[in-house]
Amino acid sequence: NSAHIGVTGLAVMGRNLARNLARHGHRVALHNRSAARTSALMAEFGHEGAFVPTETMEQFVAALERPRRIVVMVKAGGPTDAVIEELVPLLEPGDIVVDGGNAHFLDTRRREAALREHGLHFVGTGISGGEEGALEGPSIMPGGTPEAYAILGPLLESIAAKVDGRPCCTHVGPDGAGHFVKMVHNGIEYADMQLIAEAYDLLRHGAGRQPGDIAQIFRGWNEGRLESYLIEITAEVLGHGDPLTGHPFVDVVEDRAEQKGTGRWTVQTALELGVPVSGIAEAVFARSLSGSAALREAARGLPGPSETWLDSAAADRFAGDVEQALYASKIVAYAQGFHQIQAGSAEYGWQIDRGAMASIWRGGCIIRARFLSRIDAAYRADPELPTLLTDDHFREALGAAQSAWRRVVSTAAQLGVPVPGFSSALAYYDALRADRLPAALVQGQRDFFGAHTYRRTDRAGSFHTLWGGDRSEQER
Ligand code: 6PG
Repeated sequence: NSAHIGVTGLAVMGRNLARNLARHGHRVALHNRSAARTSALMAEFGHEGAFVPTETMEQFVAALERPRRIVVMVKAGGPTDAVIEELVPLLEPGDIVVDGGNAHFLDTRRREAALREHGLHFVGTGISGGEEGALEGPSIMPGGTPEAYAILGPLLESIAAKVDGRPCCTHVGPDGAGHFVKMVHNGIEYADMQLIAEAYDLLRHGAGRQPGDIAQIFRGWNEGRLESYLIEITAEVLGHGDPLTGHPFVDVVEDRAEQKGTGRWTVQTALELGVPVSGIAEAVFARSLSGSAALREAARGLPGPSETWLDSAAADRFAGDVEQALYASKIVAYAQGFHQIQAGSAEYGWQIDRGAMASIWRGGCIIRARFLSRIDAAYRADPELPTLLTDDHFREALGAAQSAWRRVVSTAAQLGVPVPGFSSALAYYDALRADRLPAALVQGQRDFFGAHTYRRTDRAGSFHTLWGGDRSEQER
C-alpha cells in the first residue's frame, strides 16, 4: 500500500493539491518540515481520501511506489533548492521530482540539468488558479522529459480543471518550458488586470459612474466576448461595500498595487529575447508608479486639463467604446504574450504548441476566458501564425473596434485619465501595421553620431555616410 504520489510543503497550495489528488483516488504521501502542518491536514481533511502522513524525509521517500512522484510545494528560490538537496540522496534513478512553485524558468533549467546527472527527472510545473484552483482543479503547465510526463501526466490531468471534457494540463516541453509558460501567463495576467483597471478608471473618472454602476456594466460585459474570470471578479470587487464605513470597497483600499515579481520576470525575459511586450511592461510599471509615494505626493499639484468629465450623452455612449477598446487591447496583450512564448520556444528549442497553451488556459487559471478558445482556434488554423493580430477573427475584431479604441485613447488624453495599457496597445497595433516606421530616422541618427551604419532598401550591404565630411556614402 505505498503511495502513488507525495507532496512535500503543506502550506495552502501544497495542502490543497494534496487534497485534490486524494479526492481523485490517488494515495498521497504527506510531508512538511514541521510535522504540525501534516497532522493539521490529517485532522481536518484526513477523511477525504487515502493519505500517508510522514514525519521525516526518509519516511516520506520510503512511503512512495517507484518510480517515485514527488511534488515540491515550497517557496521559490533557496527553499526549493534546500528541499531538492535533501531529497536527491534518498532517490533512485527514474524517480521524478516536480516543482509546482512559481520558479524562474532559468532555475528550473539548472535544476533539471543537475537532477539529470543523477538519473532523476525534474518537472518544473506551472500551476495557476490560486488556492481554490489547487483544490478544485487548476491549470497545470508541466515541463520536463516526455518519459517523465508519461508517468506523471495522467495524475496531473486527473486533478486539472476540465473544459469540454478536456483537462487543462498538457506536456509543455523540455526543462524550463512549463515555468516559462507560467511566467508569461502571469505577465498576461498583469496586462489583463491593468486593462480592466483602466476601463474602470475611464468609466469612473471620465464618465462619472459610481462603482456599483460600473460593477453592473462589467456584469454585462461578462455575458459577451469579454467573459472571463478576471471580469467576473472585478464586478464582485466593484460591487462590494466596505462593512466598516459603508463606502465602496475600492475607495477605502490604498491605491498602491503590489507584486511578487513574476510580471517583472516576464518583462526582463522579454527584454533579453527582444520581444516587445509593451502591454505587460506598462502593467508592471503602472504598479511601480502607483507605489511611488514620494513622487506622487510631489506631483499632485501639477496642472491637468480644464475639461475633466464627459457630458452625460457622451458618457452614455462611452461605455460601449470602452468595451471595444478593452477587447482590442486585450487581443494585443495576448498577441504579445504568445509572441514571447514563440520566441522563448525558439531560443531554448522547446517546440511549444501555442494553441495547446491557449487551450489549457481556458479553465482553472487566473486568465481563464471564453476568448482563449479563439486563440486556440487561431493556432489550430495556422500553427505558424506570426502574430495573433492577423488571424481572421482577430483582424476583423480589431478592424471593427479601432474607431472606438481611438476615441477612448484620445478622450482619455483629453480628460487626463492615464491609460498606459490602452494607449500602448493601440501604438503597438499602429506600429505593426505601418508601411514605414521612423526607425529609418533612428538609424540615420545612429550613423551620424556613431558611424553605426545602416542598410538600404534598394541595395544589399551596410553603409555609412560621411556626415562630418562631404556626405558621400561608403559601403562598410
Ligand atoms: C496564478 C497566479 C499566481 C500569482 C499571484 C500573485 O496563476 O494562480 O498568477 O501564481 O502568484 O496571482 O501575483 P502578484 O503578487 O505578482 O500580483
